[in-house]
Amino acid sequence: MLPDEVVTLYRRAKRVAAFTGAGISEESGIPTFRGDSGLWVKYPPEKFASVTGLLRMFITQPDRVVDFAIDFYRMPLMAEPNPAHYALAEMERTGKLIAVITQNVDNLHQRAGSKNVLELHGNMYRLRCMRCGKHRYMAKDEIEGMLNRLQQAKGSRIRILRVVTGIFKRCECGGRYRVDMVFFGEPLPQDVLFEAERIVQEVDLLFVIGTSGVVYPAASLPYIAKDAGTKIIEINPVASAVTQIADHFLQGKAGEILPKFLHV
Ligand code: APR
Repeated sequence: MLPDEVVTLYRRAKRVAAFTGAGISEESGIPTFRGDSGLWVKYPPEKFASVTGLLRMFITQPDRVVDFAIDFYRMPLMAEPNPAHYALAEMERTGKLIAVITQNVDNLHQRAGSKNVLELHGNMYRLRCMRCGKHRYMAKDEIEGMLNRLQQAKGSRIRILRVVTGIFKRCECGGRYRVDMVFFGEPLPQDVLFEAERIVQEVDLLFVIGTSGVVYPAASLPYIAKDAGTKIIEINPVASAVTQIADHFLQGKAGEILPKFLHV
């Protein structure tokens, strides 16, 4: 059961947005970054989360970089949207929710049917030309093929490099493609960030779901919302950096709590 004040808040809100993190995909089988079986536990982010860190690792331990790439893509590739993703898509369909602002790159919001998804950290299926900015989407089996080739190339830096340059082909403009994800130290897409900042100030209610709220600038969004008078409902099994400013903290799993809002 949702607390009465939460039900009233949700019913009264005319415009709602959601800010999501890795936790919303946890019930889809994707470990969160900072959880016990998280990527950043196995692969320290200071080595694997930035482009320079990865290049340095590639020089000294190329096979570790391949292992990281395989572990990064493997679970999201197999994942399906869960009831939390579907609940947000349904809220949008009924006209209550105007946007999902996500830090996730797994594409699960879109696959659940959400239309207005602002991706702060990019998308794991998308490549971007470094010269002209053109996008190209990779299909699931294209990524699987790439991971298989990387696995087979292990043990030889040259072979790995050959696979990598095969993936990041040249664009028609002559520039080279890269993955369209934001690594640590890189700027977020400014238009997406500005739009997210505008939305969290404009809505009456912001759901903050499944994020530890420690990675900036995305983590500033709940604070920007709060300053603008937007109410915040946080959903997380454990308290996060956002909990102190949340108007309501609903402790538990997103896939169990969010669908309840569809029946109030
Ligand atoms: N439902 C809701 N929340 C959950 C669930 C669940 N089923 N399971 C775990 N969580 C919560 C955790 O308690 C934690 O607070 O999800 C949060 C996940 O936190 P992080 O792993 O830090 O992920 P996130 O906040 O999305 O990380 C932000 O950091 O590494 C970068 O770019 C990466 O976008 C990512 C950013």
